[in-house]
Amino acid sequence: MRIAPSILSADFAKIGEQLAAAEAGGADLFHLDTMDGRFVPNITWGPKIVADLRKLTRLPFDAHLMIVEPERYVDRFVEAGCQYVTFHYESTPNAHRLLQHLRSLGAKAGIAINPQTPVSMLQDLVEDADLILVMSVNPGFGGQAFIERALVKLAEARALIDERNPACELEVDGGIGAGNIERACEVGATILVAGSFVFESNDPAGAVRSLRERIR
Ligand code: DX5
Ligand code: ZN
Repeated sequence: MRIAPSILSADFAKIGEQLAAAEAGGADLFHLDTMDGRFVPNITWGPKIVADLRKLTRLPFDAHLMIVEPERYVDRFVEAGCQYVTFHYESTPNAHRLLQHLRSLGAKAGIAINPQTPVSMLQDLVEDADLILVMSVNPGFGGQAFIERALVKLAEARALIDERNPACELEVDGGIGAGNIERACEVGATILVAGSFVFESNDPAGAVRSLRERIR
């Protein structure tokens, strides 16, 4: 089980310190949310910022692209130093091709589904994916309440992965904290994203440690 703090809720005026604190607390990778103001009603950062952040830590980067036409941008996120690149099922008609393309670039290929998208949509994609991301909030903002139904979808995704591609990671993103991280693990998640729980606390290192305690 790996913990991936989402820096969406971090204070970018002191991002170096924030990354270092999360890393000291035992973070396994950093989750970087790119939003374009079209696929989701919020805007964050592109590959230039990711490349700059790359100089601040050696932990792997997990790019979560909440953008339309992700096929136009994935290469640049790989070049910027992202080990995992995840795009949304809902954002492209070419999901299968894009997963294969990401692998050809040497990246881990991830595909995300929004709360309204059934896990069964991934049935014919799972073998070409290194990561499936089940959203447990509507994408766009940190600090939203966890959608309980995501636990059912995680269990379904776990069954699909076990049957078709056991090496595939299962990530959950949105509303994760000390109150539900254990349940997410129990139904088979392997990468737990936590944004506001980590970076809106006064002690990001302690927050990551407290999550780790729960899933040990
Ligand atoms: C939401 C993002 C998440 C966000 C999670 O669209 O994909 O990664 O940072 O934040 P919390 O953990 O606060 O729900
Ligand atoms: Zn995310």
